[in-house]
Amino acid sequence: MYNVTKAMTSRASRRGVLKGGAALGLGALSLGPVAGRLASAQDGGQLEIFSWWTSPGEAAALQTLFDAFLAENAGVEIINSAVAGGAGVNAQAVLQTRLQGNEPPDSWQTHVGRELIDRYVVPGYSEPITELYESEGWAEVMPAGLVEQATWESEQYSVPVNVHRGNTLWYNKQILADNDIEVADTMSVDEFIAACDTLQAAGVTPLAFSNQEGFQGSQMFESTLLGVAGPDTYNGLFRGELTWDDEGARQAAETYARFLDYVNQDFTALTWDAAISMVIEGRAAFTSMGDWAYGEVIARNAEDNIGWVSHPGTAGSFVLVVDSFNLAQGAPNREHALNWLRILGTKEAQEAFNPLKGSIPARTDANRDIFSPYHQWSMDGFASDALVPSVAHGMGASPAFQQALLDASAAFVADKDVDTYLTMLADAAAMDAEAAS
Ligand code: GAL
Repeated sequence: MYNVTKAMTSRASRRGVLKGGAALGLGALSLGPVAGRLASAQDGGQLEIFSWWTSPGEAAALQTLFDAFLAENAGVEIINSAVAGGAGVNAQAVLQTRLQGNEPPDSWQTHVGRELIDRYVVPGYSEPITELYESEGWAEVMPAGLVEQATWESEQYSVPVNVHRGNTLWYNKQILADNDIEVADTMSVDEFIAACDTLQAAGVTPLAFSNQEGFQGSQMFESTLLGVAGPDTYNGLFRGELTWDDEGARQAAETYARFLDYVNQDFTALTWDAAISMVIEGRAAFTSMGDWAYGEVIARNAEDNIGWVSHPGTAGSFVLVVDSFNLAQGAPNREHALNWLRILGTKEAQEAFNPLKGSIPARTDANRDIFSPYHQWSMDGFASDALVPSVAHGMGASPAFQQALLDASAAFVADKDVDTYLTMLADAAAMDAEAAS
């Protein structure tokens, strides 16, 4: 388990000498309507935050949220209980054990949508924070669609901190230039395949891929499905309104199999950040990954040589991956947790966090000028594209279907057997429909 409690403790006690936010000149600023009620937040104590943000880019971004909290709550010790493993594949298992054992952290990372609702709200692990939404006016500064995804039976349950874009294709500019490959504003599937053929003939690994955590295989499929069949078919299939014998689904799986002809052979041993590292370091030309990969590019100061375009065929569509934090039912440090959540929803915290995370703020009133060209491109997409929820990241389907997609994709990346893949997805969809009826 990754734990920086020690570092946080020494930081907290250093600041503790100053006796809280008042000594930092923040006292008056911190007294919003909720903070006013939560005066005890500066009396010390602990706050345990659970996430899976441990890669260099993720950890640096998470630290900005801790810093924002500590600036107003200097005497509080933050216990960072992050569990390594992209997309939370390990963290979510650890968390379930803790929740079932009635030992919740105060607040944990969760995607809005089905993950939040099915895993944490319906089983009663999450306390509503509707009052915080009202006192902070979040419904006025966050898109209604996001707020809706954090809502169950008219109560809100988590604060979105960002909007990640799942369907971005990253590339090493130098490698493409060396091979006379130009990427325009958009890239079709055929253009991508032609580029990969050129690279392969030149002895370059065209597409860095990783599947150690397992989510990457699902994510590459959902992005390819979106690119080949479009957002309506994507939504129809994942909502159970279309069946997996759909022609678009078959074409998507066939296209995905073709993409897999261009990947590095050791992908089952690699984590997602290792794949973007291959592109940063010039060991592969492209990788398809959500824009937390840009957090790694930033952490390594590699912005100048990394370009991006929508995953092949997906221009005009945006796969949503929205991180949020909730309030545990029975949170051991409830008042600190409420303060933490209030701070996460501020413009300042979202403006500090997102430039490092690669995502854009969930708040729409953030200052665009402080963001990189990549972020501005993503903001423009978010404002005008067709938005679809990621299933690989648990937003757009039940946890059972998400797991089935992960398992089917793990088999598919090895055997590229289109019929078996589609059959497994059809079976999972049928079981899902049965469970819902
Ligand atoms: C996603 C999460 C991102 C990023 C990524 C890789 O599920 O939303 O914030 O952490 O996993 O770990």
